[in-house]
Amino acid sequence: MMKKRILSGVQPSGTPTLGNYLGAFRSWVALQDDPQYESVYCVVDMHAITIRRDREELRRQTRELYALLLAIGLDPERNVLFIQSQVPQHAELTWVLNCYTMFGELSRMTQFKEKSARHPDNINAGLFDYPVLMAADILLYQAHLVPVGGDQKQHVELTRDIAVRFNGVHPDVFTLPEPYIPPVGARIMSLTDPTRKMDKSDPNPASHVLLTEAPDAIMKKFKKAVTDSDAQVRYDTTQKPGVSNLMAIYALATGLSLEETEKQFEGQGYGVFKPAVGEAVVALLRPVRERVEALLRDPGFLEAEMARGRERACAIAEKTMADVRHAVGFLPKG
Ligand code: TRP
Repeated sequence: MMKKRILSGVQPSGTPTLGNYLGAFRSWVALQDDPQYESVYCVVDMHAITIRRDREELRRQTRELYALLLAIGLDPERNVLFIQSQVPQHAELTWVLNCYTMFGELSRMTQFKEKSARHPDNINAGLFDYPVLMAADILLYQAHLVPVGGDQKQHVELTRDIAVRFNGVHPDVFTLPEPYIPPVGARIMSLTDPTRKMDKSDPNPASHVLLTEAPDAIMKKFKKAVTDSDAQVRYDTTQKPGVSNLMAIYALATGLSLEETEKQFEGQGYGVFKPAVGEAVVALLRPVRERVEALLRDPGFLEAEMARGRERACAIAEKTMADVRHAVGFLPKG
């Protein structure tokens, strides 16, 4: 049986949140038990430098994110886990794909328009070319499925368009990828404004919980989470978005259903409910934080895992790259 390959990338730009975990990472971990799929995940440090970054901070965040992927339970044996900049074929394929991507296409990318509005003093060519590097990430590994949030769907569609154009000239070089919405995804909202998605870049730290946050900080955030004045634990995302979000978090953290959650807190006010959600999240995240800390104390182990991931990634990437070099007319490497 041919396995379907899944590929995704994560930017090393600060610790991911509980929302990233419940919305995406958790389903990546579940997918590794499904024999239909094989997965490749990369920490995309080359994408990260499209915005000015302190070099030591980038190194630290890249290492931390890699440790975090291991800590949430991604098995480096069953998945390929690597750092993008350590596999030079990503940059190499980006150049070739640039020549199969239109200026107009890149100009239409929503994220480019947003980011250039936010950083008007640094609209560099890398920011413009960001989606082509992402296309290279995906096409190098001949990925079938790309799990991404809504904001990245346009980039996956562009990747498909680039692959179709390239294959039109050089048949059968690339697998056409599709965006993939994993079955267990959840949309976790901000704790201070439950009409908006939980986002680590929200300047109010009370709005989000980081995956490595200390238990007392987590408890404080849940005790202060925005609810309503109706004092009933009932799931109703339009009338009671705050409470519904907390219920969803509680249900996912404990494995209970929403109905069971509602029953459990029947007749009890938010003074009981909110700390209970906090405790469930503390229990969910404690092993993750402890494992990240242990991994970061053992740099030799982390580096060995990175090297193993890099080798496996390189083997796949080089195969595609050899086909691409041949297709476009480069001479073989001597
Ligand atoms: N652009 C993605 C984001 O910001 C990250 C990313 C880079 C990615 N390369 C990828 C996601 C390849 C999926 C596949 O979230």
